[in-house]
Amino acid sequence: MISHPYQIKSMQQYQTDYKQSIEFPDAFWENIASHFVWKKKWDQVCDWNFSEPKIEWFKGAKLNITENCIDRHLDTLANKPAIIWEPNNPEEASRTITYGELHRQVSAVAQMLTNIGVNKGDRVCIYMGMVPELAFAVLGCARIGAIHSVIFGGFSAQSIADRLEDAQASFIITCDGAFRGVKDIPLKSVIDDALIENKTVKKVLVLNRTRIPISMIKERDVWWEDEIAVAEKQLQAQEKFNFPAAEMDAEDPLFILYTSGSTGKPKGVVHTQAGYMVWANYTFINVFQYQPGQIHFCTADIGWITGHSYILYGPLSAGGTTLMFEGIPTWPDAGRFWDIVQKYRVNILYTAPTAIRSLMAFGLKPLEGKNLDSLQVLGSVGEPINEEAWQWFYKYVGKERCSIVDTWWQTETGGIMISNLAGITPQKPAHATLPLPGVLPVLVDEQGNELQGNSISGNLCIKQAWPAAIRTTYADHERCRTNYFATYANRYFTGDGALRDELGNYRITGRVDDVLNVSGHRIGTAEVENAINMHSGVVESAVVGYPHDVKGQGIYAYVIMEDHGHDAQLMRQNIIQTVVRIIGPIAKPDKIQFVKGLPKTRSGKIMRRILRKIAEGETEQLGDTTTLLDPSVVDDIKMGAKLI
Ligand code: WT7
Repeated sequence: MISHPYQIKSMQQYQTDYKQSIEFPDAFWENIASHFVWKKKWDQVCDWNFSEPKIEWFKGAKLNITENCIDRHLDTLANKPAIIWEPNNPEEASRTITYGELHRQVSAVAQMLTNIGVNKGDRVCIYMGMVPELAFAVLGCARIGAIHSVIFGGFSAQSIADRLEDAQASFIITCDGAFRGVKDIPLKSVIDDALIENKTVKKVLVLNRTRIPISMIKERDVWWEDEIAVAEKQLQAQEKFNFPAAEMDAEDPLFILYTSGSTGKPKGVVHTQAGYMVWANYTFINVFQYQPGQIHFCTADIGWITGHSYILYGPLSAGGTTLMFEGIPTWPDAGRFWDIVQKYRVNILYTAPTAIRSLMAFGLKPLEGKNLDSLQVLGSVGEPINEEAWQWFYKYVGKERCSIVDTWWQTETGGIMISNLAGITPQKPAHATLPLPGVLPVLVDEQGNELQGNSISGNLCIKQAWPAAIRTTYADHERCRTNYFATYANRYFTGDGALRDELGNYRITGRVDDVLNVSGHRIGTAEVENAINMHSGVVESAVVGYPHDVKGQGIYAYVIMEDHGHDAQLMRQNIIQTVVRIIGPIAKPDKIQFVKGLPKTRSGKIMRRILRKIAEGETEQLGDTTTLLDPSVVDDIKMGAKLI
């Protein structure tokens, strides 16, 4: 069994490690990095400035992340489970993939990708359901040094087309379809639509999963099953069934993951090899206090950063057992998570507040008779966890004996940044609590002045480089600078607001920019507005978030139409269809209010503050409206809102 020499074991150790990581980051991370497998060691631990920004970790080192996630465990863990896969339909057989088998599968995928022409540095878009082959595909790319860009199954053809174009992707790996509850999502058909005007993709590799009829275009589309058989034969003919891991530079890109910001276009967040690997591993081992042999169940989809870091790279680099679930929490019934916990004796359950709230709505019945004794650590991620959901999770799932880690982080941070360490540092409901070693958070006011002391609130920034910091936004470094490093000089700006309590614990209060958090998914208001504005007859729109019991935030759209004579209900549905086409079902507006005008200042800026208040149901205290060009539109909007 692999042991974790850098696992923090006490509050006191947390404090000394934290102090050392901030005062002597090079010595601190050099020691941790020494526990990984390198083809060549680094020349310099860290070199950074936030003004360009330039962030480099372990410069000069050579490595392959899959050797750290797989090969190095083979001596001790070849017959131990690396991935346990639970299918959507509980009647279908589950699968257990040992480290030995994972090595064979990833080798075969690496050979297959090489055979179809994928080279080091090529961008490979992965659009698959949560099947084990998705994990093999991601790791297969990493094995040969291709840059993976996983796209979540809830994005539309148009969204995929934009991402393929931005990444200049030359390969796609997909499935015929994906099972999700009672649904069968037609992935390949969405890819076909995404490729209509595409000029960069050379081959589409298609895995058979749901057996829905699909189109296969000669020369372009190939079946995974056929290609993998060829690759396996080639490897079997060799002395050892192994595809040699490519030698990667520490700062070569590992993956691109698109995420929404306050502008209309999603950004391709780039993470690199070494720093990301060290961070995913270090945070996994410390936050969840992972012990050898434990079963870790992260309920996220690999299409999000949470899945990258805490289904795949974190647990596997730690020699852990990671549980991958294809389905949804409420099918066949709302006891699905608890059945899985009981079936596999899950020790760590990492999920999102929105999932907890949706399960709370079913009451306690689905939990009855389920043995959850194996659980030791519960985790929350994606949005602020409200006190009620925290208590429910603690009481009814953790039976008041499990630690809850409230983990704050972002796609851009690569891994967990602020969180308690399970059972080691104190937990506090609705608080992410303390920064991990290596993380130096600061709160600033609007002018960028650093706020000293405790019991204060401000905008959350990070002042020092950490190993998995965003390196760039793909093909547009300037965008990375302006988005994250230009708002406040020499600081990474998170886009979140936070409070710091009297003991220095952080409580994240939510986004302070025009980014919504809907069911833990990030959606830019500008993106939704662009999609709505593409709908025939729409003159203008403004989108804001409002509190939603299950989703955390709902999407509220104010829309001006050319002509008001239409059937409003049908028009709403049509607009929703357009949004689904342009972005995907995850961006569907929950409420659409048709308005005659929007509250604008004399300079033409929409006063979203007013729209947010009205969406929240507040009609009295709207604040100062005297600077509006036409204050009467506000009365109209207030009246209309009552009817929504
Ligand atoms: C945004 C990042 C990190 C993986 C999932 C989401 C919000 C995330 C918490 C938390 C309060 C949280 C923030 C952040 N967020 N975790 N524990 N408490 N807010 O990744 O899509 O990049 O979104 O999610 O607003 O900025 P993402």
